[in-house]
Amino acid sequence: MDKRLLVYNIGCLATPEGSSAKKGEEQGEITIRNNCHILIEGEKIVEIGDNPPGLERAFKDSETLNAQGRLVTPGLVDCHTHLVFGGWRHGELGLKLKGASYLEILASGGGILNSVEKTRQASFDGLFEKAYGLLDECLLYGVTTLEAKSGYGLTTESEIKCLEVMKKLNAEHPVDIVPTFMGAHAVPREHKESRDKFIALVRDETLPLVAEKGLARYCDIFCEKGAFSLDESRLVLSKAKALGMALKIHAEEITSMGGAALAAELGCVSAEHLIKIDETGIQAMSKAGVIAVCLPCTSFYLNEDFAPARQMIQSNVPVAVATDFNPGSNPNLNLQLAMSMACYKYKMLPGEILTAVTLNAAGAIGKGAELGTLEAGKQADILVWDTEDLDYIFYRYGSNLVNTVIKRGNIARRS
Ligand code: NIG
Ligand code: FE
Repeated sequence: MDKRLLVYNIGCLATPEGSSAKKGEEQGEITIRNNCHILIEGEKIVEIGDNPPGLERAFKDSETLNAQGRLVTPGLVDCHTHLVFGGWRHGELGLKLKGASYLEILASGGGILNSVEKTRQASFDGLFEKAYGLLDECLLYGVTTLEAKSGYGLTTESEIKCLEVMKKLNAEHPVDIVPTFMGAHAVPREHKESRDKFIALVRDETLPLVAEKGLARYCDIFCEKGAFSLDESRLVLSKAKALGMALKIHAEEITSMGGAALAAELGCVSAEHLIKIDETGIQAMSKAGVIAVCLPCTSFYLNEDFAPARQMIQSNVPVAVATDFNPGSNPNLNLQLAMSMACYKYKMLPGEILTAVTLNAAGAIGKGAELGTLEAGKQADILVWDTEDLDYIFYRYGSNLVNTVIKRGNIARRS
């Protein structure tokens, strides 16, 4: 029989339910169950039930964990990160503080292109070790699954190198990684005067090779002034779709360009950022069922507006919240901080945010059937928090309130 783990004495279990992203009022409808237990066999939840006194004695031959009346939720899913890159960009902080904008730094050859240089120079092992350490940190904050985008190589060879790093991380680190190819993240320096050639390279060489090697489940593109136009985005994403990949898009981050409507047109699983989305974009996403991945820490770090998450919920767009962890527009990987920002700046309610970082985030990476809720049959990715109720997590923003992390039925971290 598979190894069993009993989590007992749970004061409050809070979870969304189901296997696909929730929208509208349903996004805030979470199930709260007091005084209960979870039984895990192998990697899966097999039972959630009451907690009669002495329950643990019936499981004396199994591993047990006493939650001591604490809050328990599904493991957090960070559905938008740029995890693998060389170096950092704290050197640009001075420019930023003197008023240079994100796009001005990029246009002057810094920004993403600065990280591209460092990533190209970095060895496979160097990138692996650095990202492994970052994943350790994510796990401390309660992240049990994470999406990671390539896009700091911008040559076929270095993009493949970064995706291979993710593959090895997925095999060796407890946190699961869902890889996304984002080879059209910026036009690299060597193609400054030949951007069509670069797009042809991504479409005709890199993408087919990534698809053939099965290195990415999704393809994403930075649809933005100074990065890629709407037409260029359509060209790249259509090719990825033809190769069998699912689609994502960085849309309406700094300028409103119609990327949200393009996401609807192409059937993207998600459109991400959306700071500058307009009503037409919201309606298009709502109709097509595109998930909005909102990234409040990026708005904070770039000193930009906050995405109209409330308006999107009201318009029946499923909203997920993620960190956007990357060296340029948000060097912070604490998803709990993003949750608090969603509360204070998007005015999302705690229940809506819990859904946003569990079930809806799992939906944005095609994992809603396996992850994102606490129900029998789901993967046992579970958090025990140092609190008795959900509101407290948001109220105590900035502190790490995760007490214990269970990943695939194993206790991966205990404080
Ligand atoms: O999501 N917008 C594009 N990419 C990242 C930033 C990447 C970088 O600055 O290194 C983002 O914000
Ligand atoms: Fe991003």
